[in-house]
Amino acid sequence: MAFEQAPLPYDPGALEPHGMSAKTFEYHYGKHHAAYVTNLNNLTKDTELADKSLEEVIQISFKDSAKAGIFNNAAQVWNHTFSGAASLPMEVGYLQVIWRLRSIAI
Ligand SMILES: [Fe+2]
Repeated sequence: MAFEQAPLPYDPGALEPHGMSAKTFEYHYGKHHAAYVTNLNNLTKDTELADKSLEEVIQISFKDSAKAGIFNNAAQVWNHTFSGAASLPMEVGYLQVIWRLRSIAI
């Protein structure tokens, strides 16, 4: 069974009043987040991890250097799914922090 990207629980334009355009959010969800899911499926295809839950894959691959790529992609899928499933106010706060940190870093 392949890992699937959780649906976005709100409209991509919901964060526009907080400085993130629907286009940017759609790119993050549709390209960035989706890439982690695709990579995880490619890395676990035909392995014993393919039928595990996402959380099991994270636990099994944690601190296993041979599975570092699997761990990174699985953890990022979980991270993005969790932040996407969080309540909108929490998501707004989280994204505002990320947005500001990126502004500082660039
Ligand atoms: Fe991201």
